[in-house]
Amino acid sequence: MTNKKQLKIGSIIDGVGWNYMGWRHPDMPANASENIDYYVQKAQRAEEGKFDMVFLADVSHIGPGMIPHYLSMFEGVSILSALSMATTHIGLIATIATSYADPFTVARQMASLDKISDGRAGWNAITSNPGGLANYSRTHLSKSDLYPMKKEFLEIVEGLWDSYEDDAFIRDKENGIFFNPRKMHPLNYRGKFFSVEGPLNISRSRQGRPVIFQAGTSSEFMDIASKHAEGVLVNGENFEYAKSFSIELKRRVALEGRSPDDFLIMPTQNLIVGKTEREAEEKLQELESLMPYGYRIPKPKFFGSAEKVANQIQHWYEAGAMDLLLLRQEHPSGFDDFIDLVVPILQEKGIFRKEYELHTLRGNLGLPYPENRYETSTKK
Ligand SMILES: Cc1cc2nc3c(=O)[nH]c(=O)nc-3n(C[C@H](O)[C@H](O)[C@H](O)COP(=O)(O)O)c2cc1C
Repeated sequence: MTNKKQLKIGSIIDGVGWNYMGWRHPDMPANASENIDYYVQKAQRAEEGKFDMVFLADVSHIGPGMIPHYLSMFEGVSILSALSMATTHIGLIATIATSYADPFTVARQMASLDKISDGRAGWNAITSNPGGLANYSRTHLSKSDLYPMKKEFLEIVEGLWDSYEDDAFIRDKENGIFFNPRKMHPLNYRGKFFSVEGPLNISRSRQGRPVIFQAGTSSEFMDIASKHAEGVLVNGENFEYAKSFSIELKRRVALEGRSPDDFLIMPTQNLIVGKTEREAEEKLQELESLMPYGYRIPKPKFFGSAEKVANQIQHWYEAGAMDLLLLRQEHPSGFDDFIDLVVPILQEKGIFRKEYELHTLRGNLGLPYPENRYETSTKK
């Protein structure tokens, strides 16, 4: 228990909300999902709360029945590039599906975001649902191809991120030496789905390379995550499930020769919190009044007074079911309420930071610096 990291916290910014009714609330800009000022304000507030990250989920295929947020939203890396200029410490995580993108492009986009933000980028590498095959000219593929494709995709992106050793660029104007070509490495990857020669034309960042997150549930998913992920999202509905998922995944991480302490289990929670239980009930009723007549909203798992929610969080964290709490706000004041009411209690309990430790995402998450695979010197 002694070397257990402090609890980490992130917020998923879902524009108008990850629900059907949030956009109707008087305090929610109805165009929040396409409103950069809204995203900037939420990210800056999360940084005031000393959160580790803002996280953007994504969708690959839509239809008219989807939640309003998915119907009109920004693309993730574009938003995060803007947020990187409006924040200084908080991590910036984009979701990009390995089933519907090209590894060279993703490696380049994410490495650029990592440099633009000076070491604060993360990539949530998901397979996504098979619906996206119809949007990305891949109708010849099937669901069973998605994980084999993801494996190749990750091997390529990680390889490309090592294209240059850390000291490859000399930029010596006097002697006219821009870089050391011996420290540049092509990849020459030949796979079933992708073939990529490389190298990538961008150097490594202050944190080495973006942090890789993943989300999924199956055994096939866990096999890939235990090799390539540094944090994994899990549905936070059920404590016992999150705990057993954590135990199983960390067991597989250890089998890969990696330290389970450097692997984050990240349950998502769409909490509602108030100063008192009653205030939380009122917020829930407010939201229910925005639903069509007769519809109820399931009570979030983390619900009630700030004290009660802080105790629930502590329980999940100490039991090993949660290393990083990934918040979604159900009510438009959700993040503000959490930062104002719950964060001070978690800080008082000593399980959450009062100040950022470092400037990089990897540094604040307590994850090790990834050495370049070609590094020959002893340089760190
Ligand atoms: C906690 C969690 C979060 C997810 N987030 C997204 C997302 O933002 N966008 C998306 O397209 N799919 C998302 N997925 C779906 C996965 O990409 C994947 O399609 C799904 O989990 C099926 O794979 P599995 O059988 O391994 O679970 C998420 C899955 C989980 C469990």
